[in-house]
Amino acid sequence: MRKIIITLDGFSSCGKSTLARQLANELNYVFIDSGAMYRAITLYFLRHRIDWNKTEEVVAALKQIVLDFQYNANSGKSDMYLNHEDVEVPIREMPVSDNVSAVSAVKEVREFAVAQQQLMGDKKGIVMDGRDIGTTVFPAAELKIFVMADPAIRVERRYKEMFEKNPNIRMEEVKNNLESRDYIDSHREVSPLRKAEDAIELDNSNLTREEQLEIVLKWAKKIID
Ligand code: DC
Repeated sequence: MRKIIITLDGFSSCGKSTLARQLANELNYVFIDSGAMYRAITLYFLRHRIDWNKTEEVVAALKQIVLDFQYNANSGKSDMYLNHEDVEVPIREMPVSDNVSAVSAVKEVREFAVAQQQLMGDKKGIVMDGRDIGTTVFPAAELKIFVMADPAIRVERRYKEMFEKNPNIRMEEVKNNLESRDYIDSHREVSPLRKAEDAIELDNSNLTREEQLEIVLKWAKKIID
């Protein structure tokens, strides 16, 4: 079977990672959540009080960072590791969510992450989700999908996800975080979020996980088979 690169881009909380993971499982491909890499870098910067507005500090800090994904047999998913520590939990918490868009707008941070992401696609057979995967990381990918969902539905989805971990979370907090990340992600200078010209749009506001998987699998199989 032919191996291809599949990219999924879109705003936060529109279900990209879930879909990308399911798709990778079905095709026996590697799944990479590129947002987790920006989140791990943000966690490192927060822990070490790195001022990301200062280029020299950023460049020196990036030299201290090793990122990798390791399969977790309990969850059946790959966890993000920062310098050999499993950081899957703290990278999903509010301090990281509140700062990750600002950190990921820094040119040097993007160059660092993008170089590693491109290496991961060397052998193809990969599904990667993010904001600039179809435009910057893999502009020649065989299948590019731009995932969209109604903003109110996205807030609700993210709220449910966060409430499971932190019952004190407020809907307003989640809504503000999503709105501010949407704005920064789509207005930054380097690789802003935008749909690649050759990407197919998928609006999953009214689709179940199974339905969206079925649609995307059809698109993929048309190219692979
Ligand atoms: O997908 P996510 O919400 O976990 O991503 C977290 C942040 O990382 C998001 O607000 C923007 C940034 N990001 C990015 O700039 N480029 C990517 N390819 C993936 C994520």
